[in-house]
Amino acid sequence: MKKTIVYIETLGCQMNVADTERAWTNLREAGYERSDSAAIADVVIFNSCSIRERAAHKAFTRIGEIRKQRRGREPLIGMMGCVAQLEGEALFDYAPNLSFVAGTRATDRLPDLIARAQAGESGTIDLGERREGESWTVSPFERHSAHVAFVPIIEGCNKFCTYCIVPYSRGRERSRDAAEILRDIATLREKGFREVHLIGQNVNSYRSASTGDLAAYPGATPFSKLLRAVALTGIERIKFTTSFPRDFHADIVSAIEEHENLCNWVHLPVQSGSDKVLRLMRRGHSVKNYLERVERIKISKRQCSLTSDIIVGFPGETNADFEDTLKLVEQCQYDGLYIFKYSVRSGTPAAGFSESVPEEVKTERLQRLEVAQKNNQRHIYQSYIGRKVSVLVEGESSKSLKDMRGHSTCHKVVNFPSSPHVIGQVMNVQITEAKVNSLYGRII
Ligand code: 5AD
Ligand code: SF4
Repeated sequence: MKKTIVYIETLGCQMNVADTERAWTNLREAGYERSDSAAIADVVIFNSCSIRERAAHKAFTRIGEIRKQRRGREPLIGMMGCVAQLEGEALFDYAPNLSFVAGTRATDRLPDLIARAQAGESGTIDLGERREGESWTVSPFERHSAHVAFVPIIEGCNKFCTYCIVPYSRGRERSRDAAEILRDIATLREKGFREVHLIGQNVNSYRSASTGDLAAYPGATPFSKLLRAVALTGIERIKFTTSFPRDFHADIVSAIEEHENLCNWVHLPVQSGSDKVLRLMRRGHSVKNYLERVERIKISKRQCSLTSDIIVGFPGETNADFEDTLKLVEQCQYDGLYIFKYSVRSGTPAAGFSESVPEEVKTERLQRLEVAQKNNQRHIYQSYIGRKVSVLVEGESSKSLKDMRGHSTCHKVVNFPSSPHVIGQVMNVQITEAKVNSLYGRII
């Protein structure tokens, strides 16, 4: 019998990328065939993102595009991920040609959902929790890269920042078993992977699911114990994201200082530089607490790079509050900054806040912050000229056929002249030029 061909399009964050990889592992085991083109697939699934309104819209736009492209021989269409979890049944009304919906913890049950939809069941839906003892292990063949692997260590979020939909779309925090994480990383290393990213909404809130797994490792928190345990697997490079400021213990930086393979990069979203706005956002940290953590990172002998996220135009953010954010950005001298205009997410506490900031003010603040960041970044990037960085080569440069592209341990994009035979290798590159968002150099 001809195998059913499935195509999955992943929108959103690394957690969705990891869920798609997990979905492939299951679908293949169940006898489905994978396609990287929607044009020939029997089943098309969108792994959706709901973090901002525009992202959530994207899944619907794409469903419309696929219908148009495949008119007359329409595939079965399914939705998974955050929009699926949040909207549930209502999706069948918004998108009448949708055949099935799988929530954020139903990834393992996709084969069954597809089979039911194929058999003609209407309104096939699963918004349930994970099965007890469900394995998160992903087949190395289904990874998005042959060199860098995303390893979820914790899912969900208990923080309930007032603007954020994640606690609703991904449920409560659940940490993975440390023993399983360590086993996965050992396997990845054996299969030739060079780098792992420990991922989760708040990696540093990690609590080992089974007590005892990490008891033998030193560390002030379960996460810093896990970092040391992962370092001892011997995998070449380890990065982790995202860190939550309130739970960011100084021992994390100590672990980075002790183990060369723990990379010198911390992503520590601040969201605002105003204590008043941070309180309204219910972030659980003040500007002062945040700066103390930044200070520990900045004084490290590992020369750690620091990146962050900021939301502009949160309800009640005045010009003075925004000036405080600009001041904080100057103080932190971020290596990279993701700036977002506040987007109302229905069901979150902030959706009910008055004093919304007009769109044009949000735009102006975003632009001012971008200019400030660009300025700081230029100096930071220029300071790399003459320095040597270690680069994992991930592929060809998107801009020039003669150049290869990769990331440094401090997570900067580095391009350099070479050929595809170095893809997958770690090279020492001397930086000769600083671009706006990347470095350029030559192999030494
Ligand atoms: N509006 C704008 N940005 C948001 N983020 C999360 N929720 C919202 C929202 N409602 C941003 C935060 C977070 C990043 C992943 O997305 O900055 O750190
Ligand atoms: Fe959202 Fe806050 Fe949780 Fe991050 S910590 S996922 S911003 S609720």
